[in-house]
Amino acid sequence: MELYLDLLKKVLTDLHRIEKEEYKPLTKKVPTWKEKLLLPIDKLLRKNNYTICKYVVPDIARRAQGTDWPANAETMIGIRRLNNIQFCIEQILTHDVEGDLMETGVWRGGAVIFMRAVLKAHRIRNRVVWAADSFEGLPKPDEAKYVHDKGDTHHLYKVLNVSLDEVKYNFEKYDLLDDQVKFIKGWFKDSLPIAPIERLALLRLDGDMYESTMDALVHLYPKLSIGGYLIVDDFNTVKGCKTAVEDFRKKHGIKDEIIPIDGESIYWEKKS
Ligand SMILES: C[S@@+](CC[C@H](N)C(=O)[O-])C[C@H]1O[C@@H](n2cnc3c(N)ncnc32)[C@H](O)[C@@H]1O
Repeated sequence: MELYLDLLKKVLTDLHRIEKEEYKPLTKKVPTWKEKLLLPIDKLLRKNNYTICKYVVPDIARRAQGTDWPANAETMIGIRRLNNIQFCIEQILTHDVEGDLMETGVWRGGAVIFMRAVLKAHRIRNRVVWAADSFEGLPKPDEAKYVHDKGDTHHLYKVLNVSLDEVKYNFEKYDLLDDQVKFIKGWFKDSLPIAPIERLALLRLDGDMYESTMDALVHLYPKLSIGGYLIVDDFNTVKGCKTAVEDFRKKHGIKDEIIPIDGESIYWEKKS
């Protein structure tokens, strides 16, 4: 089991072929002037199934740490955050904490694929993995409602738009698409208040923005069991995300110790 899960971590992050060059298409939010010149040519080429790509040699340390946006990997969260998911699930199983596992913000699905794999490796049949996403990228900031999202540009990154079909296909590639995986499609503000989730043992937030983090906390944290885990991926990288967590903790008097996972992410065990 340990060998399967360790190998899966390498494959989901594409670390098993990190020495191979990657080709990144021209889908950046703000192209440089050189890239702008290339865009019309790229459009023409695409009609004939060609495209212009940037050649990149990935950095093994950054990939393992989860600080680059991989061209092909199913997850961008790196090895330590995958280890953290495994640790939390195994604690939940050991202490019989009631509830399902969930991620809000799944991108290509790597983290939720890994959650399903951990359940399978432990032969768990009575828990489900919930994968919530718009499956069309991040929302434009609602600056009137959320000042902390002012100027947020995540919605401009086309590389963050991954369809539900693509995510399902990624699960299938690992033989992990079954009735223990459930998808919730839509903007969190619409989908999470009506999501048919009863109880969670693990809640992983990876929606980057203040709004996305706050919506998940408001609608899902009350469903997290005592002894369950809350993971926040973007705590130290996106200011709005950290502020949402701090505001929520303050409002609800949450004092549970915040534990760092790596430079970017944190988690805590829900104690009350
Ligand atoms: C950084 S990516 C998640 C990375 C992923 N967890 C992984 O393992 O690599 C952020 C994801 O959150 C989704 N997202 C962010 N805010 C959202 C919102 N308010 N409603 C729905 N989806 C949202 C985006 O569509 C995107 O897929």
